Amino acid sequence: MSRYRYPRPPASEITPEGVYRRRRELMGLGLASPLLALAGCAGAEDAPTAAAPAPAPTDTPDGFRTRETLTTERDATTYNNFYEFGTGKADPAQNAHTLRPSPWMVVVGGEAEVTGVFPLEDFLRPHAVQERIYRLRCVEGWSMVLPWEGVPLGEVLARFRPTSKAKYVAFTTLAERDQMPGLRWPVLDWPYREGLRMDEAMHPLSLLATGLFGKPLPNQNGAPLRLVVPWKYGFKSIKSIVRIEFTERMPPTSWNQSQPSEYGFYSNVNPAVDHPRWSQASERRIAGDGNRVFANRIPTLPFNGYAEHVAPLYTGMDLRKWF
Ligand code: MTE
Repeated sequence: MSRYRYPRPPASEITPEGVYRRRRELMGLGLASPLLALAGCAGAEDAPTAAAPAPAPTDTPDGFRTRETLTTERDATTYNNFYEFGTGKADPAQNAHTLRPSPWMVVVGGEAEVTGVFPLEDFLRPHAVQERIYRLRCVEGWSMVLPWEGVPLGEVLARFRPTSKAKYVAFTTLAERDQMPGLRWPVLDWPYREGLRMDEAMHPLSLLATGLFGKPLPNQNGAPLRLVVPWKYGFKSIKSIVRIEFTERMPPTSWNQSQPSEYGFYSNVNPAVDHPRWSQASERRIAGDGNRVFANRIPTLPFNGYAEHVAPLYTGMDLRKWF
């Protein structure tokens, strides 16, 4: 099988991984300096005898960037779930060279004043691309920290002026057998479908990603357009989107249809609600050293650590029932 290569953008457009890491180290220093200043104010008697533990890495106040150690670009692009290219973690990197991410059309339909078929460039044009460094946790129990680029989903959706009937938004992945060899196997009822409640879609953390590590999205990561919803299990972050539909009713979603007792519509990361076949209390953080199987095991946080931003969306809901 031929090795996958994605077209390299001009060198001027690339932010090397090292620059990301240095930028993040500097942000870490920025965080540490007020603490150092405080320590300097204390009298000598108060000086700690042992080195104080390093402060836990935090996110920016808006949650848009975590300062945790980045996953390597290699892991992010060779350890994937994209069943349209096979169910093995290495399959998408090996097989996704057949995906043609350009030209790309996005169909917008349903309960909105503006609907139609839009070339990707028109679909995205008015919106400034932003960098977001998010944790993404897979329902299988591993997580990554990745520098995405994209546009806030809510800003894009608002342009289509959803009507008052629009309570949900449904997303569909491309399903072309000549481009996606995995479609030959009925692992899921193709095309891959996902959905969000309207207020979740409009939340500023929801991102329509177009890039990763300062480059256009590699095919295996969902080129040219995918969702990244960082407080939900990774399967909600649907790849290679061709259709967006505003709906009045909760739309069918692939994993929920396939195994409703295992995958709910909401799928908020929740360490207190185990998957029926395994615990969700902790996760393998694939970050930094490229170690996957024996990656550092850390506790999983409610809403994947984004609770202060998104928990209010679910006030009054029993999240054990609406898992
Ligand atoms: N989107 C489509 N179309 N097909 C898929 O199989 N897998 C999901 C999600 N989006 C999937 C998909 C799952 S299970 C995860 S964990 C994430 O993509 C993985 O994204 P990554 O490979 O970029 O890390």
